[in-house]
Parts: sequence; C-alpha cells; structure tokens
Amino acid sequence: RVERKWAFFVVGLMLLLVAMVVYTGLHWAMMPPSRVETIDPTTLHVSGEFIESNLGTAREADGSATVRIVAQQYSFTPQCILVPAGTPVTFRATSADVVHGFLIADTNINSMLEPGYVATFKTTFDKPGEHLMPCHEYCGTGHEGMWAHVKVI
Ligand code: CUA
Repeated sequence: RVERKWAFFVVGLMLLLVAMVVYTGLHWAMMPPSRVETIDPTTLHVSGEFIESNLGTAREADGSATVRIVAQQYSFTPQCILVPAGTPVTFRATSADVVHGFLIADTNINSMLEPGYVATFKTTFDKPGEHLMPCHEYCGTGHEGMWAHVKVI
C-alpha cells in the first residue's frame, strides 16, 4: 500500500516537471525575452527597415554614430569599419547564416551573433587607432580567416 502511494507520488512529480518544461518552452516560443529584435535572416529586415542597404557607419541626429554589421561565412560586411573617436558608437550586428563571434580588441565588446537576432552594443573610442575584430566562435572551415578591422579616426 505504502509503495503504491509513493509510486503515484513519483509519477505525479514527473508529470508536473514535464508540464513545467512544456509550459516554459511554449512561453518562450510565444514571448521571446523583451528588448531582443528579431529579423528574418534571409532578407535581413529589421521592423521594415532593410538593413543590408544601410550597412556601415551612419551619423545620428544627436551626433552619435551607428554601425550596422552583418556577419556571414567567412567575412563581415563591411570589412573595414570607420568610427569617429570620442563619440558614442552603437554597434548593431547580426549573422546571415550561422553563429559567429563578435569581438573588438581593446574594448569590452565580446559577444555572439546569432542569425535572426540583432546584437546591440554601445561604446566610445577615446583615441584614434586600429582594432582587430575577429570572429571568435567556430563557424566552419573558413573561421580562422574571418575578421575585420575597426579604424578609429
Ligand atoms: Cu565566423 Cu568564426
């Protein structure tokens, strides 16, 4: 009798756990974490804005700069990124195919680029110089040769 009770209890517990996993899975699928923009990786649209057409560095009305970057096997577009020194710079980057790494040497920018998501970073470069921007996430046979430059002017 007692064993039977415990057996029911354990099965019930397992069903509860499965229900919780299913519930959180559905919840995440329907409501991805806020503040994450999703894009269609095949066309690279961000809320109606075609980002491939405005890749590179752009000046904002407030004087800051925005850099839009797309990573794909095995390069970044653009390959050489020019940014102004002493100015807040916002990087908006995504991947067109697989997961790539995004790292700018001598800054705290270090992340992954996932297809379908736009990663946003803000930084200010104090002085002119050049920073390497390697892909540091294994993405295929050409991974070693995948890197770009950030030139601060
Ligand atoms: Cu892209 Cu490694």
